[in-house]
Order: sequence, then C-alpha cells, then structure tokens
Amino acid sequence: MNIRKIQIQIEEYDDAGSLGKADLSLLTHAQKALSGSYAPYSEFHVGAAVLLENGKIIQGSNQENAAYPSGLCAERVAIFHAQSIYPDVKVKAIAITAEAEHFITKSPVTPCGACRQVIAETENRQNGKIRIIMKGQEGIIQAVNGIEHLLPLVFQEEKLKKSKRS
Ligand code: THU
Repeated sequence: MNIRKIQIQIEEYDDAGSLGKADLSLLTHAQKALSGSYAPYSEFHVGAAVLLENGKIIQGSNQENAAYPSGLCAERVAIFHAQSIYPDVKVKAIAITAEAEHFITKSPVTPCGACRQVIAETENRQNGKIRIIMKGQEGIIQAVNGIEHLLPLVFQEEKLKKSKRS
C-alpha cells in the first residue's frame, strides 16, 4: 500500500484591492450578474462571469425551479451560455460570488461538484486551464489556476477510451 499525497495551490487575497486588474474586473461582472439570479427557494443568489480569450465577458446567475433539480448554478449558466455562443473561443477565467438574503456570506463561494466537472470538461475541450476566482460578500478572496486544484482525480474523456485487455 502506498499513500499518494496531492498538493493543491490556492491564492488568498485579503480584499478586492489586492487583486490584479483582470480578476477585479471579472468579479465586478460576477457581482452585476447577481441581479439576474432567480433564487426564490434557497434565497441564495449566485453570480458568475466568464472571461473569454476574445475579451468578451459572459455573465450567468443561478436559476432555480420548483422542481429543485431542474434549476442550474450560476457557473454552469455562464459557461454553457459562453460555449454555446462562442464554441471555438477559449475560456480564460471564471469569477463567482454570492449574496444570501438572510445572512452575510463571509467566505468565498466555491463551485459545487457538478460545476467543477463542467469546468473540467471545458478545460479538456479547449486544452487550456481556467482561472477560478471566488468571493463571498465579506472575507478573503480565493483563486486557483486550473480545476485540478479544486477537483483532483477528475473523471475525464481519456478514462472512456478503450484499452486492449492484456
Ligand atoms: N449555487 C450556485 O449557483 N453556485 C454554486 O457554486 C453553489 C450553489 C446555487 C444553486 C442554488 O440555486 C443555490 O445556489 C443554493 O444551493
């Protein structure tokens, strides 16, 4: 038996003022996206903004449904929208933030497992990493360069490839 340790790297910034210009701008768009959130059930509003290689920024927000699983997270709304309009343009970064109706989000909003899987697919599809910037209403801001830092041992396309049995 062997124990394999996997290292992930998370950048932490004390406040928005310590961020680089591109990160800050993308977070501002994620913040703007909050106004489009439809979250009557959770009362938890999430905004996301995707930066494409052509400079375009596509926003998305969570869209809930009375049949709960039919709703979709902000990250997937933004990524799927971006990929459906610009299928051949790489996604460089995604910023995420959230505001709850009855409390203050004091730590960064991190993407759920399904959204991580979708970010992983997008990286694989474009053969390029995506920077992920995460913020709450208060507290530190976190960023990672690539989904491997949020989703180690990811399931990806190559696992579906048939290999010859020996
Ligand atoms: N949600 C997102 O949109 N993104 C996340 O990263 C976490 C959760 C949404 C889904 C649901 O509408 C609400 O937040 C509460 O889970």
